[in-house]
Amino acid sequence: MRRRAKPSGKPTTRVRQILTQLGYVEHEDFEYEVEIRLYSNRRLYADVMLFQGDAPIAVVEVEGKPSLLREGFEEARFKGAAWNLENPVPLLWVAAGERDALYRLTRPCNGICYAPLSEQTLPQALAPAQLATLIGDYLQQTDAPLGQSLRDRNLLRDALQAASGKDPRTRFVDLLKTLQSQQPKRGASAPLREAHQRVAQARQKGTGDFALASALRYIARAYFRPLVKNDEVRRFGRYYTPDEVIEFLVEVAAPQPEMRILDFACGSGGFLLGAARYLRERRGLSPTAVADSLHGVEIDPHAHALAALALEVGIGAPVAHLYRENALTFAWSEESYDLILSNPPAGSLPDSIAPEQFRYAGKGKNRLNQYEVAFAELAVRLAKPDALIAIVAPEGLLSNASAESFRRWLFRQARPFAILGLPRGLFPHTPSRMYALVMRKTPLRKRDRCLIAELSRYDLTANRPALVQLVQEAMHA
Ligand SMILES: C[S@@+](CC[C@H](N)C(=O)[O-])C[C@H]1O[C@@H](n2cnc3c(N)ncnc32)[C@H](O)[C@@H]1O
Repeated sequence: MRRRAKPSGKPTTRVRQILTQLGYVEHEDFEYEVEIRLYSNRRLYADVMLFQGDAPIAVVEVEGKPSLLREGFEEARFKGAAWNLENPVPLLWVAAGERDALYRLTRPCNGICYAPLSEQTLPQALAPAQLATLIGDYLQQTDAPLGQSLRDRNLLRDALQAASGKDPRTRFVDLLKTLQSQQPKRGASAPLREAHQRVAQARQKGTGDFALASALRYIARAYFRPLVKNDEVRRFGRYYTPDEVIEFLVEVAAPQPEMRILDFACGSGGFLLGAARYLRERRGLSPTAVADSLHGVEIDPHAHALAALALEVGIGAPVAHLYRENALTFAWSEESYDLILSNPPAGSLPDSIAPEQFRYAGKGKNRLNQYEVAFAELAVRLAKPDALIAIVAPEGLLSNASAESFRRWLFRQARPFAILGLPRGLFPHTPSRMYALVMRKTPLRKRDRCLIAELSRYDLTANRPALVQLVQEAMHA
């Protein structure tokens, strides 16, 4: 059984069009002609297979006439089962002429059975955002990476809801216990195992609560992993920001007491936690003073709950200004933050935004309907004069020709003094190259200099102190 990385020429134009509309065709992972070898050495070819990573999620069988639907189903069923007897392909789509039928793997059953999915229309069922939900029940019982991710995501969601201890530390330990007790027989996922190890280390070393808080954030990685193209994780840009990027930008920003610090898309609270640790350990601020200086907004309820818990565990005091809101429509008071640290979402804006609030972001002539543009504009609006803005942004913001006039405007509002390419692979779930963009809200002067560099992983780890110094020198040049 194997998969040939060769695009199929076979499916009818209609099937191709449907897949294109649903967003599969341009995604190289999704469409392959697949050869399935049987033990008897007979070969079967699936017309199209839809994949998530290496896990097949649907067999598409294409027949010429509607009368061949039954035969098409038998073929597809055979191929779905022959792919892997232990983990058959969960969904079949038979396209016979103009007629379509969908079938879902059912369990338990003697042998491998597929049942028609009468309640779903084709676009509904195959829409990438729905697929994970549709086949999720089945996938969660398998070893497929998608199944593991779904298990992790749901476990975390349930455990967060169930964690009810009185103080944050007990809630955190409760959460881990729930996660551990709910782990299916297949064993704990890698992030959870590592979180447990980190907790054990933190207890042994007595290094305090920030280690526990990062362990808590760490288990959330599964929650921040897109499962299929266009699923909600991708649509809302819910990517986990790696610790080394957070620590680097926090050290560059070197937060001071009394500063009002903001992350307007705070996810699991990585940047706020990093800033809190800096203020506690390097500036000696009290837990309440630290908690008071932090401000966060996050649209996703689970990420918000996670951030609240992680911050309270880390700091030892709750952060009052942590809002579960849409940052793009939030009632902000303008020019009120001294430091903005964030890795906002990137990509197309899913909803329309109020055009009067944004000069460049949104739909319409001379506008860009992109998250990164909206959040960069927002950063300029919310930063006090002279405030520091350190954000993670996709390459497009810095290089796309369509964003040129926006960039010119942005850099006139906020002077960039470091544009740093982050190592490839650090953000594995987005195809875009990511950059750290460090700016100060002062107008650009004629002779201003900007440090532009490509960073390696070494730069963000062992070489970090030297790099931080270099960026700070650029900042004060
Ligand atoms: C790249 S993630 C940030 C990850 C975060 N730095 C961390 O360490 O966990 C972007 C976050 O923005 C959130 N988000 C997306 N749209 C938003 C909006 N309109 N307002 C506020 N948050 C939003 C997503 O839910 C996601 O958690």
